[in-house]
Amino acid sequence: MSGDIRNVEYGLNKIFEGAQDFLPLMGTDYVEFYVGNAKQSAHFYKTAFGFQSLAYAGLETGVRDRASYVLAQNKIRIVLTTPLVSDSPIAEHIKKHGDGVKVIALWVEDARKSFEETVKRGAKPFMEPTVEKDEFGEVVRSGIYTYGETVHVFVERKKYDGLFLPGYRKWESVYNPPASGLKFIDHMVGNVGWGEMNTWVKWYEDVMGFVNFLSFDDKQIHTEYSALMSKVMSNGNGRIKFPINEPAEGKKKSQIEEYLDFYEGSGCQHIAVATDNIIETVKHLRANGVEFLSAPPHAYYEEVPTRLGEHMKIFHEDLAELEKLAILIDADEEGYLLQIFTKPVEDRPTLFFEIIQRMGAKGFGAGNFKALFESIEREQMKRGTL
Ligand code: FE2
Repeated sequence: MSGDIRNVEYGLNKIFEGAQDFLPLMGTDYVEFYVGNAKQSAHFYKTAFGFQSLAYAGLETGVRDRASYVLAQNKIRIVLTTPLVSDSPIAEHIKKHGDGVKVIALWVEDARKSFEETVKRGAKPFMEPTVEKDEFGEVVRSGIYTYGETVHVFVERKKYDGLFLPGYRKWESVYNPPASGLKFIDHMVGNVGWGEMNTWVKWYEDVMGFVNFLSFDDKQIHTEYSALMSKVMSNGNGRIKFPINEPAEGKKKSQIEEYLDFYEGSGCQHIAVATDNIIETVKHLRANGVEFLSAPPHAYYEEVPTRLGEHMKIFHEDLAELEKLAILIDADEEGYLLQIFTKPVEDRPTLFFEIIQRMGAKGFGAGNFKALFESIEREQMKRGTL
């Protein structure tokens, strides 16, 4: 379950050859969650994850049907939106899925062209190109559906120097907890239904010009009880990475099936955020009450030097500290990475976060899949969903 996988279909350089970068994507612009109570969710993301208040739209700014709180930490922007009326697509979304990710917004040079090109290639429209203006300039946005009810919104902001988007005002708060060292979104993972992974892989290839640069089948990702399959999609410049998971047959119900049951469909499974000091970040998050999956057995940490091989030369971490904090370690040809996963951040066992520190490695922690899934299965056992 370790080194062999990474040699298969691996090679970031190939991305640049295979991808058709007609969009192109400059980065993640923001992630918007539809939630039952945005005011309280915003408090949670500030308190627990150290996000900072940035902007607000709602009744006070003339918006009658929703309230949105924008939070930021370094390059990460999240928007928490709640409906103010029951007769609303936002309310319908929450009724079906619970709190979750609705919009994965992508920063583009030209939102009109991004819409035209992707729709021409088969995307289902979500939002026609729309120009929004205020005293700070104008933003053009457009959007298409991806898996489930999740959407990609293309954001063109080259003529805008406001805080976030037209219609939002600065959110001044007297409550400003310290940041936790989260820097940017490293990748966002989608869970799709039985037999749908390759459909969505092809969708990202055909519609978005992405390439599949890593694949894991159920023989590689399995525990005694459950299995899943995963393919990692990347855009041409490598800034946007979307692994796509589907469940596979196992003795018991996999975490992907559990997600699909509770989200009632395909959706975003986890958001991986990068830090450059995972030990400090995780200490900080734990002190704030963020709950993480439990540590693998001690033997896992004893095997680290063997698993890392020659990368031990550049490995200066305190293994005992990593074990105490339940941080996982993996390596590939180019270096190593440190990662840890939170428990789901809603009552439905759906969306969770990953904290990741890359020390050269470009993979996704394949060597940790088994330990990780066994840890998730311990949680599923408690929920009666294994
Ligand atoms: Fe991940």
